[in-house]
Amino acid sequence: MPGSSDYRKTVFVPETGLPVPPGEIEPIPASMQDRIEHVLIPAGCLQRRVRGLAEQMGEDLRGRKRVAFLVVLKGPFMFAADLGRAVYRFGGPEIAFYFIRVSTYGRSIERDGRVRGKTKILLQPGEIREEDLVIIEDIVDQGSTLSAVRRHLAETGRTSARFCALLDKRLEAPCEAVRKQREELRLDYVGFEIPDRWVAGYGIDAGEDFRFLPFIVVVREDYYRPASP
Ligand code: IMP
Ligand code: MG
Repeated sequence: MPGSSDYRKTVFVPETGLPVPPGEIEPIPASMQDRIEHVLIPAGCLQRRVRGLAEQMGEDLRGRKRVAFLVVLKGPFMFAADLGRAVYRFGGPEIAFYFIRVSTYGRSIERDGRVRGKTKILLQPGEIREEDLVIIEDIVDQGSTLSAVRRHLAETGRTSARFCALLDKRLEAPCEAVRKQREELRLDYVGFEIPDRWVAGYGIDAGEDFRFLPFIVVVREDYYRPASP
């Protein structure tokens, strides 16, 4: 059985034949089969990777007494909760949780290759007193959300932070502006790189469905894509 480090940046896509430990892919309940294509990352893989990230974070932040997690709601709530507990288990620093909410206008699950519209901070994190800050995000797609968080923090005088994303989407055809935006983000911690598909589960939603699932699935885009005018 491979150790947690072997799961770094590994994608578990059944149709590619990549290795997934036997029995870890759970059947999709019949009531959800019209909306879900397949399991992308089984629960066991997620938990192992979370432990790997916690270990890495604990090492990077060795000697710090208390570190702030700034969770970009809502998607990473489950990931952040598991990660915080795993950091504790690995003897890492104490964690203080803060939450921020960002809205991106004009979100669509269609891929048009453009940088999406404007972002707005809907929930302020409040005063973050800790010297060390880790931004916790669920998915980096075009990078607009994390860029907005970074800009917001800079406006409040905070220029350094680490970035942690559970999923890093490998965009199929990003335009130059998107490529640049993503490059500028420089993620410090990435759980998995995933293909350019719409995913849900483990806190992440598709039209508010599936946040409760303990694993990550690829959803049927034809179900969630808004009908064309
Ligand atoms: P970005 O701003 O383009 O990087 O998009 C990141 C945000 O969009 C994430 O915080 C998610 O909330 C959302 N998002 C991106 N891709 C997906 C997906 O496949 N499923 C669900 N939400 C997604
Ligand atoms: Mg989000």
